[in-house]
Amino acid sequence: MDQIKLEENFQAKLDRNEMIEPKDWMPENYRKHLIRQISQHAHSEIIGMLPEGNWITRAPSMRRKIVLLAKVQDEAGHGLYLYSAAESMGISRDELLDQLHTGKAKYSSIFNYPTLTWSDIGAVGWLVDGAAIMNQVMLQRTSYGPYARAMVRICKEESFHQRQGFEIMQVLAKGTPEQKAMAQDSLNRWWWPSLMMFGPADDNSPNSANALKWKIKRESNDQLRQRFVNQTVPQVEYLGLTVPDKDLKWNEEKKGYDFGEVNWEEFYNVIKGNGPCNKERLSAKVQSHKDGAWVREAANAYAAKKNKVAAA
Ligand code: 3HC
Repeated sequence: MDQIKLEENFQAKLDRNEMIEPKDWMPENYRKHLIRQISQHAHSEIIGMLPEGNWITRAPSMRRKIVLLAKVQDEAGHGLYLYSAAESMGISRDELLDQLHTGKAKYSSIFNYPTLTWSDIGAVGWLVDGAAIMNQVMLQRTSYGPYARAMVRICKEESFHQRQGFEIMQVLAKGTPEQKAMAQDSLNRWWWPSLMMFGPADDNSPNSANALKWKIKRESNDQLRQRFVNQTVPQVEYLGLTVPDKDLKWNEEKKGYDFGEVNWEEFYNVIKGNGPCNKERLSAKVQSHKDGAWVREAANAYAAKKNKVAAA
C-alpha cells in the first residue's frame, strides 16, 4: 500500500473512533508522540511513589499504614502497565528507564514537591490523584488501544486513591484546631501545583494540536483544569477549608469558577529540573535502580534456565 493510502486508512480509523493497535500502520510522529506521553505518564506513576512512600513508616495507625501501602503498590502497577503499553510501540524498557535516569524524559511536575506532614498525604490523594483522574478519564478513550485499556483499571484505582485522600482530609478538617490548620496548610501548598499538573495554558501547549487531531487527548489542558476547579471547590467548602486564591469567584454566565493565574514561571522552573525536590527524586530513583540490579540479574538467569529446559 502506498504512503497516501496508509495515511488515509489511519485517519479513517480515527474518524470512526476505532483504536489503533500495535500492528497497525501509524505515522512516525504519532508513534513518537505516544511514546513521549505514555512514558512520561509511566515515570510519573513510579516517581510518584517516593513522596508517599516517605510516609508509610510514619502513618498514624496500622489501618492508615495498610491503606497507604496498598495505594503506593497500585502506583507501581500503573507504571508497569504503562511501560508495557509504551513497549508495544517498539521501544525497550531499558531505553525508557535510561531516558528517565539521565533526565531526558519528564515526569509530572507535582512529584517535585515535598510531603512535609501527614495531611500532605491526604492532600496528595485528594488533589493530585483527583487531578490525575480528571485528566485520565478521557484517556480511557484515547486512540491507541493498549494505552486506553491500561487506563481503565488505572482510573478505577485512582478513584479509590482520591477517596482515601479526601477521607484523611475530612478527619483532619473535623479534628482539633491544630489538625484543621494542618489540613489548610496542606491545601495551601498543594492547590496551585495540582492545577499545574494539567500542563501549560492551551495557547502555550506545543503538543496539544496533534494530540487532539490524533484523538490522543480528547480535551484540552485548560478545559480539564477548569473542570477540576469546578469540581473541587465545593469539596473544599464541604471540608470547611479555604481555597488559597483571592481571585476565585463563581461566574454564573459560564457556570464555572473564575480563578487566578497559575504561576507559570514556577511551573517551567520545576519541569526544567529546578523544583524543590527534583534532584532528590531522581537520585533516589537511580539509586533504587542500582540496588535492584541483582533482582533483574536473578530474574534473567531464571528465565534463561526455564527457556533452556523448555527447549530441551
Ligand atoms: N509536568 C511535567 N511536564 C509537563 C507537565 C507537567 N505537569 N505538563 C506539561 N508538561 C510538559 C510536556 O510533557 C511537554 O514537554 P515535552 O514536549 O518535552 O514532552 C511540555 O510540558 C508542553 O506541554 P504540552 O501541553 O504541549 O504537552 P501534552 O500535550 O503532552 O500535555 C499532559 C501534558 C497533560 C501532562 C499530557 O502529557 C498527559 O495527559 N499525559 C498523560 C497523563 C500524565 O502523564 N499524568 C501524569 C500525572 S501523575 C499520575 O498520573 C500519577 C498518579 O499516581 C497521581
